[in-house]
Amino acid sequence: MKHDIGRPLRSHRVLSMAGLLVAMAVIFVADTVTDYAVAAAGFYTAVILVAARLISARALILLAGLCIFLTIFSFALTKFGSYQVGLINSCISIVAIAITTYLALKMNAAQAAAQQAQAQLLRIARVTSLGELSTSIAHEVNQPLAAIATSGNACQRWLDQQPPNLDKAKQAVERILGDAHRASDIIARVRGLTQGEQPHKSHFDLNQAIHEVVAISRTDVEAQGISIDLSLDENLPQVLADRVQIQQVIVNMVLNASEAMADYQDKKKEIRIQSALSAPHTVQFSIIDSGGGFAAGSIAHIFDPFWTTKGTGIGLGLAISRTIIEANGGRIWAEEHTDGGAIFKFSLPLAEGNAA
Ligand SMILES: Nc1ncnc2c1ncn2[C@@H]1O[C@H](COP(=O)(O)OP(=O)(O)OP(=O)(O)O)[C@@H](O)[C@H]1O
Ligand SMILES: [Mg+2]
Repeated sequence: MKHDIGRPLRSHRVLSMAGLLVAMAVIFVADTVTDYAVAAAGFYTAVILVAARLISARALILLAGLCIFLTIFSFALTKFGSYQVGLINSCISIVAIAITTYLALKMNAAQAAAQQAQAQLLRIARVTSLGELSTSIAHEVNQPLAAIATSGNACQRWLDQQPPNLDKAKQAVERILGDAHRASDIIARVRGLTQGEQPHKSHFDLNQAIHEVVAISRTDVEAQGISIDLSLDENLPQVLADRVQIQQVIVNMVLNASEAMADYQDKKKEIRIQSALSAPHTVQFSIIDSGGGFAAGSIAHIFDPFWTTKGTGIGLGLAISRTIIEANGGRIWAEEHTDGGAIFKFSLPLAEGNAA
């Protein structure tokens, strides 16, 4: 969400704020040296309205607090006129400042929501014109394609060595073949998904599927200084679902978790993945990260198609994940982490005869 859209340039903002501070000083002096009957403090509302376009919500609340403090302070300093009239005028000014601030904050929030909706519409228009199917496929095969490129480069390096390291080169080619098969499986599954085809369900070990995804992602994730910690229930019964699709969902969640921590330098970056039996007939998967968590109010939208807070995101990862999990008879949801960070969970039905 880009709340800054439409805000003036930084240098312009600084100058305007300096102007507003001077205006506040003038209002304060005028309010103090004139008679109680002159309600100069009312002009603070104009300051609030101008400042609302320049500063953040929190700074605006602080500024309003300062205006109210100045109103009370100049009331205490004023020496002329009727005390009672001064008291009423000061109260009116304070109420006016508070109401103006509230309305300005509401207006800014509505404007930000409108801009967000407009950006979402633009993305929908762009993507619909390209074709939702191709976008979904492109989104999902991006990861295996990147892995193929990495293994291809590694293979080239092993072959360029003198003498060439054929064992290592062979391992890289095997990884390339594995990823290429995964990409073509994914294309078939996404095509099936968008055409309403049933998932290819089979009985499988969710822990094993998690281990494979972690093995695929680990190098990339650890290169970003992120550690992956697994806490898997060893006695987990098998689940009944489409293995390729469920792995896609986990890949999307690992990607999101690492993107949520990408900007952190000093903070500990950690992804925790858990699996557990969740009585009576389901297995539950959880992924917890130590990123920035969700922006206020965004948790209600994250599963919407084309809803993204990232400059380069499409906003499809979670929408696809939800379609997949629901098509496999499960449920997917997000929770806020009490220590910051995000938690994503999904549940899947147990394979028949495995009910706990
Ligand atoms: N682990 C997370 N921590 C914080 N916010 C998250 C996390 N995962 C998802 N989100 C929020 O949900 C939004 C939607 O996620 P989704 O995966 O659908 O799209 P995206 O990651 O923005 O783009 P892409 O289509 O490339 O995946 C994200 O833009 C982000 O705001
Ligand atoms: Mg994503």
